[in-house]
Amino acid sequence: MVLSREAIAIGTELPGPRSRALLAERRRWVSAGVAEARHGIFFERADGARLVDVDGNQFLDFGGGIGCLNAGHSAPRVMDRALAQLQKLQHACFMVAPYEPYVALARKLCEIVPVPGPSKAALFNSGAEAVENAVKIARRATGRPAVLAFDPGFHGRTLLALTLTSKTTPYRDGFGPFAPEVYRAPIPDTLRRPRGTSVEQCVERGIAELHRFLKSTVSPASIACAVIEPVLGEGGFIVPPREFLLEVARVCKQHGIVLVADEVQTGFGRTGRMFACQLSGLEPDIVCLAKSLSNGFPLSAVVGRAELMDAPQPGGLGGTFGGNPVACAAALGAIETLEHDGLLERAAALGAEVERRFASFADRFPFVGEARGVGAMRALELVRDRETLEPDKQRTERVLDLAAGRGVLLLSAGLGGNVIRTLMPLVMSDAELDEGLCVLEKCLAEVA
Ligand SMILES: Cc1ncc(COP(=O)(O)O)c(C=O)c1O
Repeated sequence: MVLSREAIAIGTELPGPRSRALLAERRRWVSAGVAEARHGIFFERADGARLVDVDGNQFLDFGGGIGCLNAGHSAPRVMDRALAQLQKLQHACFMVAPYEPYVALARKLCEIVPVPGPSKAALFNSGAEAVENAVKIARRATGRPAVLAFDPGFHGRTLLALTLTSKTTPYRDGFGPFAPEVYRAPIPDTLRRPRGTSVEQCVERGIAELHRFLKSTVSPASIACAVIEPVLGEGGFIVPPREFLLEVARVCKQHGIVLVADEVQTGFGRTGRMFACQLSGLEPDIVCLAKSLSNGFPLSAVVGRAELMDAPQPGGLGGTFGGNPVACAAALGAIETLEHDGLLERAAALGAEVERRFASFADRFPFVGEARGVGAMRALELVRDRETLEPDKQRTERVLDLAAGRGVLLLSAGLGGNVIRTLMPLVMSDAELDEGLCVLEKCLAEVA
């Protein structure tokens, strides 16, 4: 595909006429419960880190379909493998007419996922489904009912995954009753720690609070699994303190609780390592994967210690579409791209530059409450005032709207909707990154 050499090329008003027509159709035919993109722009094609809309305008993509495109839009190895598979076998259902790509992917995942000892995998369709199945496996293996999750985590929108998820509006409102036996403990909030206390004291308090929670609210003996994101995604790119993560792991080990790492958003190179667990030395029993696993094809995976993965009765896991052969082929191509094209190193390099620029934004703009993150998973938290740290959702939305109008697509996150996050394809060039960050800086200056 030949695209403009300039990364950003806007030739119409935004949204353009074709986008506006599609938006009207969308509003007529698509459920209002499916969130509408704020900018109202519809897209037609993409390559690398660039997206082209239906009116021919070209944008820089800092959202990657919510973190699904670490290997880049139209990644050649992904496309080649998916197309070749599509021509051979499109669907058969692995449970009734099995095929090689499922087994090949399961083997590859077991080789690269940091679960200690022999491991096995099962494939599903979405991140939420991976989380639900991890819980089922842990319950079956332990014979225990309870699930420990963490605030403000996000684990998906299906009812059990949603019960583990923290944000009321828009995720939880009106969708109860929720699944029983799910308990959410807080992750220490080092940014909003009490005045005059150090980060270390805040973490110590957080760990003490966790132990109190296990005395007051749910007994460790009844917990099947603890589900935690090694870096929070939708929750606002919060990096849980390493000591806290390791204490959760220690408690799990002590009480026979299955430790589930939800790497749906952090996985496949986003943090500069293949998996974020590798940054903190966390050794989970089970890992949930989706998003960039297959570079955008609907596919998820649960990879875990073999004896846990073998606990469910045959037929207890699975589904009609789980581990679709084309999606599996795409995933093998995506992993090959990450491994052979140096994209983990690229994530670290992109992240270092974003870190440097975000730090300068924090110096320049008093409404930046914090610049944080790991690898290419970076965030700017916008606040009304640095003393109160009150979230500034309005200003965040204005920045995102202005950036979209200038050809840069960014996403927000966080309980307060006040965090700007980077989930760009890791194939983004230095020039593209610079162009995007310059636009973001201008937008921040405009709302100052
Ligand atoms: C950490 C995490 N877990 C689970 C999910 C749910 O994934 P899906 O939207 O594919 O169901 C998400 C989605 O953003 C996520 O970030």
